[in-house]
Amino acid sequence: MPTDNIVVAAMTGPFVLWRCLHSGPLSADSIDRWSPDSSMPWQELRDRNVPLLTKLAEMYGAYAIVARDGDQIVGQLRFYPEAIASMAQAGQWCLQQAFPAGPAPQLAERRFPALAEIEDKTLTVHCLMVGSPSSPDKHLRHRGIATRMVRELIRWAAQQGWTSIEAPAYEDLPILYDITGVAGKRFWEKLGFQIAHTGTEPGFLQEGELLRAMREQAIAQGLDQECVMNLYTMQINLT
Ligand SMILES: CC(C)(COP(=O)(O)OP(=O)(O)OC[C@H]1O[C@@H](n2cnc3c(N)ncnc32)[C@H](O)[C@@H]1OP(=O)(O)O)[C@@H](O)C(=O)NCCC(=O)NCCS
Repeated sequence: MPTDNIVVAAMTGPFVLWRCLHSGPLSADSIDRWSPDSSMPWQELRDRNVPLLTKLAEMYGAYAIVARDGDQIVGQLRFYPEAIASMAQAGQWCLQQAFPAGPAPQLAERRFPALAEIEDKTLTVHCLMVGSPSSPDKHLRHRGIATRMVRELIRWAAQQGWTSIEAPAYEDLPILYDITGVAGKRFWEKLGFQIAHTGTEPGFLQEGELLRAMREQAIAQGLDQECVMNLYTMQINLT
């Protein structure tokens, strides 16, 4: 399937991308429709996310870079000012989870500083998603769409006056590209990011099937199997 028709740009305007692409592409027509049988608390999530994302767009111009195929959003790169992402009520920013994995409902009521007032003008990438994780053919993956979204973020952020971007990264294991919204460190290095900090991903500390599969993939690539738990903070300077 050709991807030349896919347009990559900052998410602005009245259509708010308040949920993610887990069950397929989203458009202004479909985003507010969901199955009544769904176990997800969609109305609650919408009530929290729409005011928050609207406020971020009003204050800073955008909260995501998206890939569009016609009116359908098929890729997303979510980012936030570090000054907001690190507020106590921000939680871990997953828009499809309750606090503390997602933002607290009152976060949108807090005062957000204007860009000129922010000393550390860093944007933090939260997650990347191309196509839908539930789509069995994953036909949009590995065709450079995430790369295009990051290049657009770099261009847009520099133009707006942000001075640096940070992003989390793991080792370049295919399984982590498949199931997490965090790309591997090589992905970021190819885009000019460098490692600013190396830590450990707490979610990978538990022994189990995932960790076994990660270790097998690391060994197949000639990597030290202990490195699979690494959580890197990648950074690019825009000045
Ligand atoms: C991470 C992700 C966004 C990458 O998107 P993409 O458009 O396929 O990435 P690109 O085509 O721009 O890839 C650029 C580089 O990243 C690396 N890469 C991408 N996919 C990879 C994979 N599956 N395995 C290993 N490396 C990979 C390669 O270095 C690639 O460069 P190459 O094409 O020269 O080999 C995509 O895999 C994805 O959507 N994963 C998320 C799954 C998900 O949604 N999980 C639920 C989250 S809550």
